Amino acid sequence: MASTKEYDQAASEIRRLDALRADGVLDTRELIRCATLAASSHNTQPWTFCVRQDAITILPDFTRRCPAVDPDDSHLFKSLGCAAENVVHAAAAQGFSADVRFNPDEESVVVVLSRRPSAGATDLYRAITRRQCVKTAYDGTPIGQPELEKLEKAGEGRNVRPIMLLSEAQKATVIDYVTRGNVTQLTDRAFRDELVSWIRFNPGAALRTGDGLSGRTSGQPALPTWIAKWIIGWVLTPKGQADTDAKNIRSSAGVVVFVSSQNDKAAWVEVGRAYERFALQATALDIRTAFINQPVEVRPLRPQFESWLKLNGEHAQLMVRFGHGATAPFSLRRPIDDVIVPAAPII
Ligand SMILES: Cc1cc2nc3c(=O)[nH]c(=O)nc-3n(C[C@H](O)[C@H](O)[C@H](O)COP(=O)(O)O)c2cc1C
Repeated sequence: MASTKEYDQAASEIRRLDALRADGVLDTRELIRCATLAASSHNTQPWTFCVRQDAITILPDFTRRCPAVDPDDSHLFKSLGCAAENVVHAAAAQGFSADVRFNPDEESVVVVLSRRPSAGATDLYRAITRRQCVKTAYDGTPIGQPELEKLEKAGEGRNVRPIMLLSEAQKATVIDYVTRGNVTQLTDRAFRDELVSWIRFNPGAALRTGDGLSGRTSGQPALPTWIAKWIIGWVLTPKGQADTDAKNIRSSAGVVVFVSSQNDKAAWVEVGRAYERFALQATALDIRTAFINQPVEVRPLRPQFESWLKLNGEHAQLMVRFGHGATAPFSLRRPIDDVIVPAAPII
């Protein structure tokens, strides 16, 4: 069985800080490496990348979809948006501006790059290799007003806005929704089977696939896969998960909900971009983030949650808690060569 040391070495090698090219030539491979470091639902990395002249096209990989938790593929397209946002900041570091568009014909995200000498490396670019979801409890300390304002600004996007929930009463209501979501999800056989299929119970399993939810990132002990799959039936209960989530939410300084005015693939991409920008800004400020999406994922809960948020025609898309706390071991990624596809010939 591979050791945690091998796991950690692989995770840090993926996030190595490469020097930027000095000759001004666009390094698209480096842009794709930065893109793959983005968040993705269940760490499915549901993307491939295609370099076409002055653009990088990010295509959905539907073989990696999660029909139980994400039947309409909205999380899948949000994940593509996360990857696109990393390209934007990595391109700026190389002296290029990036224009992100959704192409409905091939359901892809096209990032068009053009030289902009005034662009440069920003704090958000430098956060790409350090951003992570920290799924454990935080230290309960509040976040100062200047940092909150920076986070809120970073979370604004095209037809997307963040709603910041900071009071204890708001957090208590969030806990109530998350608890109800856990009951629905964890008593659903299809949801459980799908979730378990993406969990990597030991470093060897995680290193073999380079994807999925590694137990190491959430502080779980490494176990042989067959034993873990046998035990998880008893361990993963609605009550246990609800208690953990409640503790984690209470330990957070606040919660942010990303809402969009539209609810289609183009909008989902923009939501992913807004989340990723928020998370990069949080990382730059040494603030941790983790998703708590149950009220958005559980269809019957969503309208109630949206009316509690007093949304008027807008759609709740993602929910994230944030706060101060320790970092966690990083998640893995697949090799870059596995996600680059050749451009189709122009006929
Ligand atoms: C659209 C989307 C939905 C996600 N939903 C959840 C979620 O409900 N719960 C959770 O713990 N993490 C969620 N994640 C976080 C992923 O598990 C995480 O990004 C992935 O494991 C890679 O880890 P990293 O972000 O630390 O690199 C989500 C990520 C994305 C992009």
